[in-house]
Amino acid sequence: MSDTFDELWGALAPVGRQRTTGGYRRFSWTAADAEARAWFTAAATDRGLTVETDRNGNLWAWWGEPGPDALVTGSHLDSVPDGGGYDGPLGVVSALAAVDELRARGVRPARPLAVTVFVEEEGARFGVACLGSRLLTGAITPERARGLTDADGITWARAMADAGLDPDRIGADPEAVRRIGTFVELHIEQGRHLVHRGSALGVASAVWPHGRWRLDFTGQADHAGTTRLADRNDPMLPFAETVLAARATAEAHDAVATIGKVQVHPNGTNAIPSRVRAWLDARAPDEATLRTVVDGVTAAARRSSGRHGVSHASFQESFSPVVRFREDLRDRVAAVIGGPDGSAPVLPTGAGHDAGTLAASTATVMMFVRNPSGVSHAPDEYAEPADCHAGVTALADVLADLLGA
Ligand code: GLV
Ligand code: MN
Ligand code: MN
Ligand code: MN
Repeated sequence: MSDTFDELWGALAPVGRQRTTGGYRRFSWTAADAEARAWFTAAATDRGLTVETDRNGNLWAWWGEPGPDALVTGSHLDSVPDGGGYDGPLGVVSALAAVDELRARGVRPARPLAVTVFVEEEGARFGVACLGSRLLTGAITPERARGLTDADGITWARAMADAGLDPDRIGADPEAVRRIGTFVELHIEQGRHLVHRGSALGVASAVWPHGRWRLDFTGQADHAGTTRLADRNDPMLPFAETVLAARATAEAHDAVATIGKVQVHPNGTNAIPSRVRAWLDARAPDEATLRTVVDGVTAAARRSSGRHGVSHASFQESFSPVVRFREDLRDRVAAVIGGPDGSAPVLPTGAGHDAGTLAASTATVMMFVRNPSGVSHAPDEYAEPADCHAGVTALADVLADLLGA
């Protein structure tokens, strides 16, 4: 089914691609997102699938009647700023191509099968990752989701309404969750485990616990030329020290901590800033370690702010507990993918996924496709076409196995 994969991939590839960087900007409820959603609807409809939009804006393309104990596969189409083309789309395109493959094999699913696209998986526009699957499963309240804002102060509710959906209807959807018998997400690997293992494909064992924290440093704006260094309350200084403290704290605990987003106010070259707002992304193998790291970073931010006459406040914006995927399903999928050569490699990941959110309420499994450089969330993200094609075949094998076909 490499032809259908290539065709689908080629049609989606230009959507949201930036001419300057080659990266993608597919933020929820923007024109690029609408184009990607329209692409999915058309591709699924062409295959005779029935597309529905759930009350949270997630897309479901059904092969057969929607119903209970469905086998569901898919991922997301949104991206981080200047993200790669594979994180998310590889799972969606592979799912559609796997449907073609199953059809070509003459499979007639004895249980419903759906291909899904979850909204705002990256949290790039509204700050909370996996928002579509969190809403679906009740992991976030509709009130909080409606009020989330983007950089221009536009709320989720407003953006969703502008896209033609009703934000008053969002929220936990137990009926839609109950329909999912098993969820399979195929994803590009965001690291180089599979390269080291010499395998094109692997299976996820666990997702590290992770979260996002907003750090506000508030000082006093003043003139860059006339204010003596000793007289300044410059929030840039504790911010800078906190970046270094995050690195050191993460290193000390075998965790990771990143400050990749920062806003400086008023952002003038010749003015001392009045405020620096930064976002900490922290992840660790277990929740206790993660708490220790985050407590360490926020304590460092407070101490440093105190030294520089700056006030500091921190807020947890999201938290995702550790996920351990069901071992029986994981091993079954590893055996199917590995074929006669033995089981496929099983690996944990530090990246968040809708499969992780869904794992709290449903049987869930994840498959990874090799990424030669390991780079992700960047334009250089890549997977070899042969590995993508192997991923489609493996996904079709896994779906057929789970269908008992
Ligand atoms: C999303 O991909 C994340 O892991 O942040
Ligand atoms: Mn992803
Ligand atoms: Mn991602
Ligand atoms: Mn993700």
